[in-house]
Amino acid sequence: MKYNFDEMIDRTTTDSIKWSPKHLKENFGDEKSLPMWIADMDFRAPQPVIDTLIKRAEHGIFGYGHQSEAFLDSLIAWQERRNGWTIEREWILYTPGIIPALNFIVQSFCIPGDKIIVQSPVYYPFYNIIQNNGCHVVENKLKLKELKYEMDFDQLEDLVKDSRTKLLFLCSPHNPTGRVWTHKELIKLGRICIDNDVMIVSDEIHSDLIYEGHTHIPFAKISDEFANHSIICTSPTKTFNLAGLHVSNIIVKNRKNRNILKHRLETMDIDPGSFATVAQIAAYNEGEEWLSQLLNYLQGNIELIESFVNKRLSGVKFIKPEGTYLAWLDFTELFENYKVLEQFMQSKAKLALDEGYIFGSGGEGFERINFACSRELLKDALERIEKSINLIRGTTISPSS
Ligand SMILES: Cc1ncc(COP(=O)(O)O)c(C=O)c1O
Repeated sequence: MKYNFDEMIDRTTTDSIKWSPKHLKENFGDEKSLPMWIADMDFRAPQPVIDTLIKRAEHGIFGYGHQSEAFLDSLIAWQERRNGWTIEREWILYTPGIIPALNFIVQSFCIPGDKIIVQSPVYYPFYNIIQNNGCHVVENKLKLKELKYEMDFDQLEDLVKDSRTKLLFLCSPHNPTGRVWTHKELIKLGRICIDNDVMIVSDEIHSDLIYEGHTHIPFAKISDEFANHSIICTSPTKTFNLAGLHVSNIIVKNRKNRNILKHRLETMDIDPGSFATVAQIAAYNEGEEWLSQLLNYLQGNIELIESFVNKRLSGVKFIKPEGTYLAWLDFTELFENYKVLEQFMQSKAKLALDEGYIFGSGGEGFERINFACSRELLKDALERIEKSINLIRGTTISPSS
């Protein structure tokens, strides 16, 4: 089946937070702003997922669910096939999302006052999760070298020596910079953390969205030792656009750590919803053809951004993603003040984007653009930026211009 990713589908009638006029007005200043912010896609899910959900809805009984063998096996087969990683059924715990999972992990393995390392600029909810659970964020800021981000291992060596540092949140692939970490980088990071008793929590939610020339390596696949000192968070939701169905899987090989986490989940009585289970099974078992067409389309969107920025947005730099559907654009040459940049995007370009500064240190003056949308919409967004820059070029770029 040939999927049509060019189709523009109205999402304003489906309680989508991304497209909610009220949300756009309140948060981006205009209900007509073009929404390219939160990370979900404007595409319909694979047809087998839609068919399965219709069939499940027609059954009409929506009682409590559980992690059935078919549900667990769909993930096991997916990891084996896509990543060559062999996992066992008993290692898998269900949570209704990765954000809840990260909260449960912090609550299970940290006490207030402990420290957790993040590699900024990074997925901004990491900060809230850590701080709202009474812990401290420690930033191991990434270094930008010739349009590519790298880890700062020297600084990491210092940070892990603090005995209050308990966890490192690894974002793999990395949101928002689009880096797909190499084997060498992961080994170096793992060695530093494990030697200093810091557990790695690897958020691999974007790991199926990888472009040619790059390979995702599940952190726990590297060795038994790495598996025993890590927790892997994964999900079909980014891959197949199922975020509203709330399904994610936490893979914990270490039995002691797994039991600690399992106990917390059981206490909260967390089990998968009727649509979550069947959607995952259909997506992992029958969604591969859709994913391959999607990646092709997204690759075309990356090429559009690259050529548009190079030819028509002088002064802007594009950090080309190796994975994810998020583009990270550097506006620091044009805007000295990141708050002015924010105002520019909202009031002049009429775009709803995730501002770089919310991703922590190193994000100031950048914009994250979600390009999982039709090419027409993406072109509209880029042209809005071009037009607005041309309007103010030659004038001082200040809050009032
Ligand atoms: C790195 C990362 N982790 C987690 C999430 C959210 O996960 P969930 O919707 O499963 O809570 C996102 C969503 O954008 C993300 O980018």
